[in-house]
Amino acid sequence: MKSLNFFIALLSLLSLATITKSQDPSYLSHACGNDTTYTINSTYRANLNLLLSSIVSNATRNNLNGFYNSSLGLDPDDVYGLFLCRGDVNNKACQNCVALAAKEAIKRCPLEKVVVLWYDLCLLRFSNRAFFSTMDQDPGTFLFNSDQNILDEPERFNRLVATTMNDTVTRATIATSGAKKFAVKEAYFTKSLNLYSLAQCTPDLSSSDCNRCLRIAFSILPSCCRQKPGASVLYPSCNIRYETFEFYNKTAVAAESPPPPPPVIRAPPPSPVTRPKGKGRVSIIVIVAIVIPIAVSIMFFYMGFRFLRRSASRNRVSLPEKDGKED
Ligand SMILES: *[C@@H]1O[C@H](CO)[C@@H](O)[C@H](O)[C@H]1NC(C)=O
Ligand SMILES: *[C@@H]1O[C@H](CO)[C@@H](O)[C@H](O)[C@H]1NC(C)=O
Ligand SMILES: *[C@@H]1O[C@H](CO)[C@@H](O)[C@H](O)[C@H]1NC(C)=O
Ligand SMILES: *[C@@H]1O[C@H](CO)[C@@H](O)[C@H](O)[C@H]1NC(C)=O
Ligand SMILES: *[C@@H]1O[C@H](CO)[C@@H](O)[C@H](O)[C@H]1NC(C)=O
Ligand SMILES: *[C@@H]1O[C@H](CO)[C@@H](O)[C@H](O)[C@H]1NC(C)=O
Repeated sequence: MKSLNFFIALLSLLSLATITKSQDPSYLSHACGNDTTYTINSTYRANLNLLLSSIVSNATRNNLNGFYNSSLGLDPDDVYGLFLCRGDVNNKACQNCVALAAKEAIKRCPLEKVVVLWYDLCLLRFSNRAFFSTMDQDPGTFLFNSDQNILDEPERFNRLVATTMNDTVTRATIATSGAKKFAVKEAYFTKSLNLYSLAQCTPDLSSSDCNRCLRIAFSILPSCCRQKPGASVLYPSCNIRYETFEFYNKTAVAAESPPPPPPVIRAPPPSPVTRPKGKGRVSIIVIVAIVIPIAVSIMFFYMGFRFLRRSASRNRVSLPEKDGKED
């Protein structure tokens, strides 16, 4: 088996917590493959620049599912690249992160051909070799929170992390092809502490490769991050993370994969329904959507009726009592 190349880093819980509140990407780690390099004025560099700008510009497209792979140039100067945004991140934040990563990549690995950059909101990766649809766990890295004080029951916490993460990994794996291979799960630990877990693969992987990648990441946890209140394992093809704070956008995740909605009656005028958040709002919208068209059609019917009656007997003056009876 390939030896795992780990770059160890520590993260403070507080700085991460504040950073992830807003959707600003925070840098996690990077890896520059130092065995293949290019020169500044080379065709490879020109191709790389073109590829990166195309990747960044494609990051806002709605139908990409937070993932895009692309390649450019002819052998021996061909370059391959992709980005993956965290499953809950919206298009704008995704593009922000990818643009930042593209800039940073050149700064951090100025002459290397094989590069991976991890941010909390996105991953950027490029190489002189085609790597799409293949599972890669090298280079890998892990991060953890060293703040231990918040855990009184480390053993119970470890067990909860294991079962919750196992379940999250399973759910990320079974995503249908083409969809995001992404899952999150929240679990109760104590009254004041919940566990939040996340797992994601690049969607170009097959389910079995995704499963393999995530299982390896999962299996690292006991050795790298035992009894840590938060940790991430990052690979080029997949990553997992758990924390005791809500580091992902629960609202966005819920909106992405809503439970099968109740059959909503289609109203004739396209109503500006965005995404109702609760059952109460659904029923109000449905009632409004039903009542207004009915009221409007009754009104039209009534007006039409009166118009017909008037034109039928032009000379007659309608009396107020008659109007009252009609009502
Ligand atoms: C980078 O270089 C170091 C020695 O300078 C070597 O040990 C390591 O394996 C190299 N890494 C890669 C990815 O080539
Ligand atoms: C790269 O090209 C620029 C001009 O296009 C030149 O000024 C610079 O010296 C070149 N650098 C190298 C390393 O060849
Ligand atoms: C990605 O962006 C480039 C512009 O930089 C555009 O030409 C290309 O068509 C886009 N890719 C796709 C698949 O639309
Ligand atoms: C993305 O990768 C797939 C292989 O997994 C390939 O068929 C496709 O052409 C790639 N897309 C681009 C834009 O290069
Ligand atoms: C993980 O889940 C699978 C089924 O989804 C189960 O077979 C396995 O025993 C679980 N492993 C752990 C460590 O909980
Ligand atoms: C979370 O997602 C929702 C829905 O996409 C969005 O309205 C909200 O601004 C997001 N929150 C943060 C903190 O980004």
